[in-house]
Amino acid sequence: MDRRSRDEKMRLGAFFMPTGHHVASWRHPDADPDAGVNFQHYVKLAQTAERAKFDMVFLGDNYAVRATHPEALRRSAQYIANFEPLTLLSGLAALTSHIGLVATASTSYNEPFHVARNFASLDHISNGRAGWNMVTSAQEAEAHNFGREKHYGHAERYERAQEFTRVVLGLWDSWEDDAFPRDKASGQFLDPAKLHPLNHKGAHFTVRGPMNIPRAPQGYPVLVQAGTSGDGRRFAAEFAEVIFSSHLTIEQALSYYAEVKAAAAEFGHGPSDIKIMPGLNPIIGRTADEADEKFELLNSLIEPVVAREILATFLRKDISQYPFDGPFPDLEPDAQSSGSFYNWVELAKKEKLTLRQTAFRAARGRMSVTRGSPKQIADHMQEWFVSGACDGFNIMPPYLPGAFNDFVELVVPELQRRGLFRTEYEGKTLRENLGLRRPASRYAVPA
Ligand SMILES: Cc1cc2nc3c(=O)[nH]c(=O)nc-3n(C[C@H](O)[C@H](O)[C@H](O)COP(=O)(O)O)c2cc1C
Repeated sequence: MDRRSRDEKMRLGAFFMPTGHHVASWRHPDADPDAGVNFQHYVKLAQTAERAKFDMVFLGDNYAVRATHPEALRRSAQYIANFEPLTLLSGLAALTSHIGLVATASTSYNEPFHVARNFASLDHISNGRAGWNMVTSAQEAEAHNFGREKHYGHAERYERAQEFTRVVLGLWDSWEDDAFPRDKASGQFLDPAKLHPLNHKGAHFTVRGPMNIPRAPQGYPVLVQAGTSGDGRRFAAEFAEVIFSSHLTIEQALSYYAEVKAAAAEFGHGPSDIKIMPGLNPIIGRTADEADEKFELLNSLIEPVVAREILATFLRKDISQYPFDGPFPDLEPDAQSSGSFYNWVELAKKEKLTLRQTAFRAARGRMSVTRGSPKQIADHMQEWFVSGACDGFNIMPPYLPGAFNDFVELVVPELQRRGLFRTEYEGKTLRENLGLRRPASRYAVPA
């Protein structure tokens, strides 16, 4: 079913983890193992993404070293030690000109004033290319770095996120667009009539405002979201302009797409006000066999203890006491158990897997990898886009720089030949390129 006009283009984001999204990517022969703190590594990636006309670079973030088994920690590279993303993006802003710069900042362990001011600054520095990925933190370890004994409960996190985001939007409207005449001749720097304190008093925050930076070039930096729970979806419906989803089948993606756009309509958002971009982890070979070989090379580098701890995270259980080469143990669900506990137990029992085999399945398939020739990858993306399962993709290269360079050199030209992706940026700001309207200040008098 073709739900697209012929001129409509897909959106592409580049979601970079330091050495890639695969757990063993830091051991790949071509990896920069110090990538997490290697600025030149990110400069090359961002400039490559910009040459390929990507809409945006996207960086995740957490506020703790992940709690895991000491031996797994010794052998892990992911989310352990890397740059703070806003600082990194400010550096990249100076060395790029068109690509959007999207960073994660948590609503659980920040103050809205800080987030509003930091992203407004990045938007000025980059001439309108900033985006904020609004997350609620999910790790207990993060609470311990911010004066709390216990992490917030799920519902409380989203209540806080909602109020947090409303305060941020309010602070972004502190100054109207034309509040600063800066007229040397008359001596008038600013127009106090265009200055608006927020005077917010709520359950979680008390913020008087105004913010001490002029309104951002984009009005508001682009609002991005990626939560999957019911609360997360409601939050997205109210605020999100870009949603990073993670569906494995086109059927799931189609129903999610329709559901989110209907929920957003209740907040007055039209279908084109939100771009839904599922993650895609591409491994590309000249042939499908070559792509499989590249994937198997990565899988051969997975450390057993790391695989075991990934499975333990899915199960939310310590499984270190069971023989690794013995049959999958009889585990009882408890209050911590989620859907993935039952899925993994059922799979292991059905296929009579050992603990080791189950752990390696979890580590390899933690993300679904889309493998194949450039044509096969482009076919897959075209099918999802044209049928209305998404507005574009968040490309999550399993290893860097190889998997990203392959995508840029082999898949992007194929998408362009098919008329599915731009060959030149349409605008200067991230909003213009994504086709999102610039929000007017709530205080502006309509012309
Ligand atoms: C593509 C993607 C990227 C994400 N990046 C982050 C991140 O960098 N930091 C973080 O704390 N959570 C991240 N998350 C998690 C969610 O944004 C969300 O806040 C978390 O899962 C809790 O919400 P939920 O219970 O509604 O899923 C990401 C999720 C997805 C799908």
